[in-house]
Amino acid sequence: MKKISVCPSILSADFACLMKDVKIVKDAGADILHFDVMDGHFVPNISIGIPVLKSLSRASDMFMDVHLMITNPLKYIQNFADAGANSITFHIEADDNKEKCIEEIKKAGCKVGISLKPHTPANAIKPYLEMIDMVLIMTVEPGFGGQKFIPSMLNKIEEIRKCNSTIDIQVDGGINTKNFKDVVNAGANLLVAGSAIFESDDPAFVINSLKNAANI
Ligand code: DX5
Ligand code: ZN
Repeated sequence: MKKISVCPSILSADFACLMKDVKIVKDAGADILHFDVMDGHFVPNISIGIPVLKSLSRASDMFMDVHLMITNPLKYIQNFADAGANSITFHIEADDNKEKCIEEIKKAGCKVGISLKPHTPANAIKPYLEMIDMVLIMTVEPGFGGQKFIPSMLNKIEEIRKCNSTIDIQVDGGINTKNFKDVVNAGANLLVAGSAIFESDDPAFVINSLKNAANI
């Protein structure tokens, strides 16, 4: 079984003291930071972008896992890579040519992820599985933190895991200490969690519960 990693989503962090929150999750043993970029067009919300990533990647040695919820990812790949992204995930539903996006991300020296919204079937990703490092399965509609996990996504995780036993499968949306075992059993190995971590009184405890219990 692949190693389980927790990827705290800073969308739910306190932006007035971002580095303090990053330090808390890093000290708790998380080494991947999930960075949600929203353009107000692909999703009905606007979040953070290139300047914030640039500052953060200078100040922290965590792996910067950038999730682009934007309409034209191709246009910005190089900018995010220059700003310190270690992996770049774009949405299969975005307008741009997928092969071209994959190629650009690799050329920029980053790992490649493709994300699927809840209504997009597992079949859509199958032609790309051998070309990429990670599939991000959205377990809520993208756009906002703090939503409820959609249980029917477990079948999608299982279906993709059956096709490829080695690829990273990341889940994002509504992951918490109650449902993480279900997603791990279905085949996910990278667990994004935002509100479960940052809205807790003890973020380190939540990270450790997710990490340790999942690796038993
Ligand atoms: C949603 C984002 C997620 C979100 C996760 O569009 O991609 O990364 O912040 O937050 P929670 O864990 O609160 O659902
Ligand atoms: Zn995300």
